[in-house]
Amino acid sequence: MNEAAHSPHVLYLYWNDHMQEPSVISSADLALIRDFIPGKEPILSRCKSGPRKSKVYSVAETSLRGNERIYLNECVDSNWISSKGPFVRRFEEQFAQQAGCEFAVACANGTAALHLALATLGIGPGDEVILPTFTMIATANAVRYTGATVKLVDAEPKYLNIDVEQLEAAITPQTKAIIAVHTYGHPAPMHRLQRIARERNLHLIEDAAEAHGAEILGQRVGSFGVAGTFSFYGNKIVTTGEGGMVTTNNRQFADLARRLCNHAFHPEQHFWHEFVGFNYRMTNLQAAVGLAQTERFDEIVNARRRVRTWYDKQLKLIPGIQTPLESNDCKCVFWMYSVRIDSKFGCSSHELRTLLAQRGIETRSFFVPMHLQPIYYNQFRGRRFPVAEDLCRSGFYLPTHESLEESDIEWIVQQIADIHGEQMGRSR
Ligand SMILES: Cc1ncc(COP(=O)(O)O)c(C=O)c1O
Repeated sequence: MNEAAHSPHVLYLYWNDHMQEPSVISSADLALIRDFIPGKEPILSRCKSGPRKSKVYSVAETSLRGNERIYLNECVDSNWISSKGPFVRRFEEQFAQQAGCEFAVACANGTAALHLALATLGIGPGDEVILPTFTMIATANAVRYTGATVKLVDAEPKYLNIDVEQLEAAITPQTKAIIAVHTYGHPAPMHRLQRIARERNLHLIEDAAEAHGAEILGQRVGSFGVAGTFSFYGNKIVTTGEGGMVTTNNRQFADLARRLCNHAFHPEQHFWHEFVGFNYRMTNLQAAVGLAQTERFDEIVNARRRVRTWYDKQLKLIPGIQTPLESNDCKCVFWMYSVRIDSKFGCSSHELRTLLAQRGIETRSFFVPMHLQPIYYNQFRGRRFPVAEDLCRSGFYLPTHESLEESDIEWIVQQIADIHGEQMGRSR
């Protein structure tokens, strides 16, 4: 980071009149992209049989099995519930350690973490930030909040992360940063991205919202870039209900991020503000839950890896389903167990999701890529990103959480096998 990057004039919250109106795609263009426009979510019924008879399999479930209640009681007993309470610093220290980083700054959510990281780097109007089109909307919106321009590249089809060759081709003199997203818990190719960032003098940020604990050659995600950002939303691997974290090994970056997170209060002169800061603070209550969760970090991550092994073993026997791949140098965390459906299965991914919902199994479709979103469509009009589009059409994820047993997975996969059989029977 250089001095200029910290000058206050480049901290800029993007807003204009157009953002008060919904973004519109013309009807001719809507017809072109109709395959990607999400339909209504399938209606979830209760399971008619199996280990959860009369209940449902939610796609995600929060599990508060550690010291959450004890720490929350401490907050109430001590009367410390705001961001000034002691759990915030304890959570930051414990989380930094888990991410293999020296510093961590707790904040309100994963989107705030991304915005805070970009603002700390001084990203602003006139700058370009490259990110994958196959991501959740927060990655792109955080760039937009700064007034910088979103530049998109496609995903690669094996691990669903950013396509590095396309990324290199997209760099221009205006490019200031890359955001690598560790999609669904599979690390992006950080060593290659680090080399590009070094050679082209770009900031590298990791959006690790879905990848707490994932590793490349034993190094944890969140520790490769100048900053890593995490989400602690209720469905995430570590949760605080709502919450986020910025990790870094750069003290100067950490100090500025911490200051911007708290209205940019001057450290010595109260009510004296040299930067436009934000109120992105995390409360002591959230941090109390986060600390308890982080104490069980390895247990939580291993439980998800177990769920992955059970799904892999059972799903391999069903044609037309592609299970998630794991690169040899990586340890994925399986935030969600994702599958892709091809024509050999006998029905589309959306039809399968609907039939599973009727049997009590909730699923979630893959991202709708950024270039097809109404708010970004006109900027990328006419551009195609075929891998992301194919993923959008063919992929979804299955229930993935700590409470699932092998018998649950067997039953879920049996339902998929039965649907496959019925669909193939119908098409004969
Ligand atoms: C890849 C990615 N980035 C950012 C976010 C935003 O996190 P939050 O919902 O905590 O703001 C999410 C949330 O699901 C995400 O999946």
